[in-house]
Amino acid sequence: MSSGEMQYAPPFLNPALSPIRVLLSYANRPGTVSFAGGHPDVSLFNVDALREASEIVSSRLAGCLQYGETGGQPAMREAAANLSAGRGVKADPSSEVIITGGSQQALSLVAQVMLTVGDKVIVENPCFPSTDQALRHTGAQLIPVTSGASGIELEELEEAIRQHRPKMMCVVASFSNPSGSTLSAEKRKKLLGLALKYKVLLVEDDPYSDLRYAGEPVPPIAAFADEEERNWIVYLSSLSKTVAPALRIGWMVAPAELRRRCLVAKQADDLSTSPWTQEIAAEYLRAGAFHSHLPSLIKTYGHRCETMCSMITELSGGRLTFTKPEGGMFVWARLTGGRKAQDLLQHAIDQEVVFVPGNAFYPDPSKQDPSTLRMSFASVNSDLIIEGVKRLVKAIDILDAQ
Ligand SMILES: Cc1ncc(COP(=O)(O)O)c(C=O)c1O
Repeated sequence: MSSGEMQYAPPFLNPALSPIRVLLSYANRPGTVSFAGGHPDVSLFNVDALREASEIVSSRLAGCLQYGETGGQPAMREAAANLSAGRGVKADPSSEVIITGGSQQALSLVAQVMLTVGDKVIVENPCFPSTDQALRHTGAQLIPVTSGASGIELEELEEAIRQHRPKMMCVVASFSNPSGSTLSAEKRKKLLGLALKYKVLLVEDDPYSDLRYAGEPVPPIAAFADEEERNWIVYLSSLSKTVAPALRIGWMVAPAELRRRCLVAKQADDLSTSPWTQEIAAEYLRAGAFHSHLPSLIKTYGHRCETMCSMITELSGGRLTFTKPEGGMFVWARLTGGRKAQDLLQHAIDQEVVFVPGNAFYPDPSKQDPSTLRMSFASVNSDLIIEGVKRLVKAIDILDAQ
């Protein structure tokens, strides 16, 4: 049988390769400065504390090698509930929390139990490409709503809800990927109000909120909801950005009925997240390493963010504009004067610097802004950030000279 006869499911008939993955081949070239990846910096992982946690768990290894509970190891569920409660999102570890393979799996499970072909789901425009994928794979239709410097536009959102009657909406309220934007407390409350008014499940994806470098902390949207209102919110978070993505540990805090259905979906997906890594992560958190390490992450990433922003302002001559993010890992920049990020990319690669052109993040090609680009400051030290921005500005010079 030729592959042409294979009857793939509709979402996989012509799946595009992630443009970010394609870029990584350039990003990994020796000498290239990469602002392309969205990864935390390997050199900032708390390896000693993870090793210690791992050794403690090794001393009772046999107990970690069996299949685990689908909802997660009790110690890790407790730890995730504590982390959530520390942000203002109270959760019962036994009836509301599921430990997942990263927050990506949590989103995918919620998508599976909520959406099917023909359903509609609201996403931020631009949004994280794997959010787009997880939702699209259910056959649901994505309704993009503009997310600007201060997060999702509420008027446009309400209009889209009225017009499309979506079942669900997904937002990153703090330091979004890619836009870096953060919703104010007031907008969070209004967004919650819209979810309740129109009975749309609000999925709050919150992998970055612990990484705040400036401004006043704002609690997650879920923290503004009372017990009844929480029936309309699923809160997702992760250890990927603040401990290590290789653990593949994220979690959801969901209303009990939705959680029960997500457990069934997770049984079909992977039976359980590795008990071994859950125990290591739970031990790391129990020992206090999470909170003792966080300030140094905030200091280093905050400094890198500052360096990237000030270098762009100083060197680009107004040809690259941006709103400085208050946290997270990304500067979402805009080329002025009709310049296009895709046109700049090849010159940038020639100058040995890479970024992700904004078109990778728009769910609807007709609603793209071709001038945008995502620059991550997380995994590049400050000296290289300075060098990388200099190279990028040289690439803009070359683009302008054409
Ligand atoms: C907005 C957003 N959601 C989810 C994820 C996935 O995180 P995890 O490693 O927990 O699956 C990422 C990772 O980059 C992200 O940026």
